[in-house]
Amino acid sequence: MNAPSYVQHARLKAWVDEIAALTQPDAVVWCDGSEAEANRLFAQMVEAGNLIKLNPAKRPNSYLACSDPSDVARVEDRTYVCPTHPEDAGPNNNWEAPAKMKDTLRGLFKGCMRGRPMYVIPFSMGPIGSPIAHIGVEISDSPYVVVNMRIMTRMGRAVLDQLGSDGEFVPCLHSVGHPLEAGEQDVKWPCNKTKYICHFPETREIWSFGSGYGGNALLGKKCFALRIASTMARDEGWLAEHMLILGVESPRGEKSYVAAAFPSACGKTNFAMLIPPKSFAGWKVTTVGDDIAWIKPGDDGRLYAINPEAGFFGVAPGTSEKTNFNALATLKENIIFTNVALTDDGDVWWEGMTSAPPAHLIDWQGKSWTPEDGKAGRKAAHPNSRFTAPASQCPSIDPDWENPVGVPISAFIFGGRRATTVPLVFEAFNWNYGVYMAATLGSETTAAATGVQGVVRRDPFAMLPFCGYHMGDYFNHWLKIGHQIEHAPHIFTVNWFRQDAEGKFMWPGFGENMRVLKWVVERSQGRAAAKQTALGWVPRYTDLDWSGNESMTQEQFERLTAIDTSAWREELKLHAEWFDKLKSRLPHALPLKRDLFELGMVD
Ligand code: GTP
Ligand code: SPV
Ligand code: MN
Repeated sequence: MNAPSYVQHARLKAWVDEIAALTQPDAVVWCDGSEAEANRLFAQMVEAGNLIKLNPAKRPNSYLACSDPSDVARVEDRTYVCPTHPEDAGPNNNWEAPAKMKDTLRGLFKGCMRGRPMYVIPFSMGPIGSPIAHIGVEISDSPYVVVNMRIMTRMGRAVLDQLGSDGEFVPCLHSVGHPLEAGEQDVKWPCNKTKYICHFPETREIWSFGSGYGGNALLGKKCFALRIASTMARDEGWLAEHMLILGVESPRGEKSYVAAAFPSACGKTNFAMLIPPKSFAGWKVTTVGDDIAWIKPGDDGRLYAINPEAGFFGVAPGTSEKTNFNALATLKENIIFTNVALTDDGDVWWEGMTSAPPAHLIDWQGKSWTPEDGKAGRKAAHPNSRFTAPASQCPSIDPDWENPVGVPISAFIFGGRRATTVPLVFEAFNWNYGVYMAATLGSETTAAATGVQGVVRRDPFAMLPFCGYHMGDYFNHWLKIGHQIEHAPHIFTVNWFRQDAEGKFMWPGFGENMRVLKWVVERSQGRAAAKQTALGWVPRYTDLDWSGNESMTQEQFERLTAIDTSAWREELKLHAEWFDKLKSRLPHALPLKRDLFELGMVD
């Protein structure tokens, strides 16, 4: 199984040969990333029944994949980080000794690609050739992975040219774990009930078995750009974060950039593509990224961020022209949809796309669906259904989104999904307080990971499932970075999800978040006012711009930003419990800050 003559990299060829010998595929296909190649794979998958081609008059060059109901989201309990010492993985990761885990994996991968082609997918996280980009090569037996990686990363032959004969790459091995014996018919969505998503940070390797979905299978994303990259960042003095990056331009033409970390399915894509209310004439928000930021200190003492991805793998439900106009505009063509519903005219639909559902649909499990089913609680689209879309198609994409130097960050925002306790917005007193707030971030769990939904868990920096090492060391890394840079960004906490006694959201959210964003940007420039509270700086009603909003009264705003001291005393107990779990590596500064907060909580 010879590699094409343009492959010059002996170590890469040897690895591909070794994996082919282990997994025994029918053929080895080196992906060149061309449109012709993608079209060939799309046609094959449509023919085989793995994909539905959408009506080209409605949604040109777009496809729908529907997964096995057992394979619909990241599997955090099957995700492992395997350094030599368990303490280095920390209590935030599942751990197994690397040699033992490799043995288990070799057993699973043995012969696992029989009856299928094996694809070699070279990809770059970050613009090809950029000094901050890193290269990976994913081996996968899933053509669905190939076409998704072509949208989500810079993929193909140009990456191999960049790699040359001895460039560095992260080997990323993936299999759906569903070999086909002679004559055996394939299924619509091959996968295996045994799943392992494994990371070897010391040797910078990824092995993923059994799932074809999202972050389990598109290994450039969470596995490489967060779990492996976070360990590279720790060693090399930078940050790999679960953050969107957006630009804000004022009517005077001043441009600031903000990076924001919200847990999975908590509004990063929405915020990154925000359209300001009409009354904010001259204000413009632009999108650099919606999920991952790589952030490095620049020579001028500021932090610079790039989006290592080339596409959006966004949550479909709730995305509408009202909530995210720019996302809908991005989705016009060249899209892969996964687990949404199919309309009778060959287009897609999901809950929240339109106020009234179509009269008839085929749901994500291939069953007939009517609005009556919806009323009975059966969803047409899976709650974690997603779209894969080229970032270049987004109307709000920032002109500098591919700038290899990145964009300078003025503010960090951290936010979770909290029905109670956490006010709409506040600013930390300083860097260390900001790190404390991010380190104790709580959020109600969502459908982005399998498991129980809607329970509050600590999700520090929105990185709990993505930090490739001990969380205590990660906090320390953040504290250090803040003290090394001359112009540290201001740090803010937001909560769009506070509810009233009836369980209704108290804040309208979406475009209205611009009012908070404007305050954040102006605080970072030292221009907006605020009042001092035990938690930090909180805007008064008169400190936000309410132009065009007649409905938010001062009294409502006060409830939205109220600091309920008894709720915070309970919250601080949870912080103490959380810190206790990390105590072996927890920086001393954090429990000290906790005690200071407690002292400040006077009724
Ligand atoms: P991942 O891709 O999973 O990392 O998540 P994400 O943070 O990009 O998630 P996304 O932006 O797709 O979040 C979607 C969910 O957040 C939907 O349920 C939206 O309705 C909800 N959402 C987004 N912005 C707001 C907001 O301002 N207010 C409220 N109440 N909900 C919001
Ligand atoms: C997330 O869960 O945070 C995602 C989706 O962005 S996935 O790529 O599947 O992890
Ligand atoms: Mn994410």
